[in-house]
Amino acid sequence: MLYSRIAGTGSYLPARILSNAELAQRVDTSDEWIVSRTGIRERRIAAADEMTSDLALHASQQAMQQAGVTADQLDLIIVATSTPDVIFPSTACILQEKLGAYGCPAFDVQAVCAGFVYALTTADQYIRTGMAKTVLVVGAEAFSRILDWSDRATCVLFGDGAGAVVLKASNEPGIVACKLKADGRFRHILTTPGNVAHGQLQGQPFLKMDGPAVYKFAVKALAELASEILDQAGLPQSALDWLVPHQANVRIIESTAKHLGLSMDKVVLTLARHGNTSAASIPLALDEAARAGRFAPGELLMLEGIGGGFAWGAVLLRW
Ligand code: UT7
Repeated sequence: MLYSRIAGTGSYLPARILSNAELAQRVDTSDEWIVSRTGIRERRIAAADEMTSDLALHASQQAMQQAGVTADQLDLIIVATSTPDVIFPSTACILQEKLGAYGCPAFDVQAVCAGFVYALTTADQYIRTGMAKTVLVVGAEAFSRILDWSDRATCVLFGDGAGAVVLKASNEPGIVACKLKADGRFRHILTTPGNVAHGQLQGQPFLKMDGPAVYKFAVKALAELASEILDQAGLPQSALDWLVPHQANVRIIESTAKHLGLSMDKVVLTLARHGNTSAASIPLALDEAARAGRFAPGELLMLEGIGGGFAWGAVLLRW
């Protein structure tokens, strides 16, 4: 039986740190409100000339170095992003050129904050079917570019960054289960509805969110998903060692952890320093925890993300 395993991880954060205190000088908010409602203390902001593909490049190089993989060995590149450099070509093709990895297929996955679990699941399928042996999977975002900086309900929540993994074919798991879901009926509660047509910007190019509706949806959907993927893998809750969740709100994460019977020291939390980096948040958290040596070989990790679409998903893997 063929499985996929993570052979290397990497991440990158832009240098500029934007604190809650600094935001409170721009909009009617406070460090106290942001920390108590979300758990976020600061976030990173990409430089004016730093594109999503640049963030992706740094994270990818780290992951490839750790995996001992060179650009010519990649069979596939998948980038999860909702903030691509341009409408087309895909950010994955731009990254491919920057990496010097010519020839292998490369494409973007657009599932907003669930993007990384969607991309990882896709890569896993390529490996399991023998279509690829070595895949670069990246989550990279420059959400600061689609925020309305006068809207306190959204601008305090998001940040920029990138995370990457190299997946390799293996006889041992690796990824043991994947589960993806979507429900387009809820597409209006979290959206950036603008587009470009006839040479003009049409509609609103800023992120809009009905925060309480998203919160309610996320808590329920993530709890159900966590139980479903464990059932699918035939594993009890007690088998789980770590939760590596999408980093949107510490209260949502605490609720999922409680549902799983996991104490918070078994949950990787980075949102205090990163904010919500959408598709980048899970691989950023994974890389930080992996490099800190928090995961032991053979431990069972659950990765789960949810966001616009609505789209959500989880991956269970053995470290
Ligand atoms: O990544 C995709 C997934 N995204 C998420 O999971 C986000 C889910 N939603 C949330 O995390 C929370 O709903 C938020 C953090 C966005 C908001 O927290 P909340 O506890 O649901 O607050 P709320 O939207 O119900 O607003 C409560 C109050 C309102 O004032 P009034 O009407 O009670 O007077 C807001 O206007 O807080 C006000 N408010 C703020 N006050 C200070 C909203 N944003 C701010 C702010 N600073 N930044």
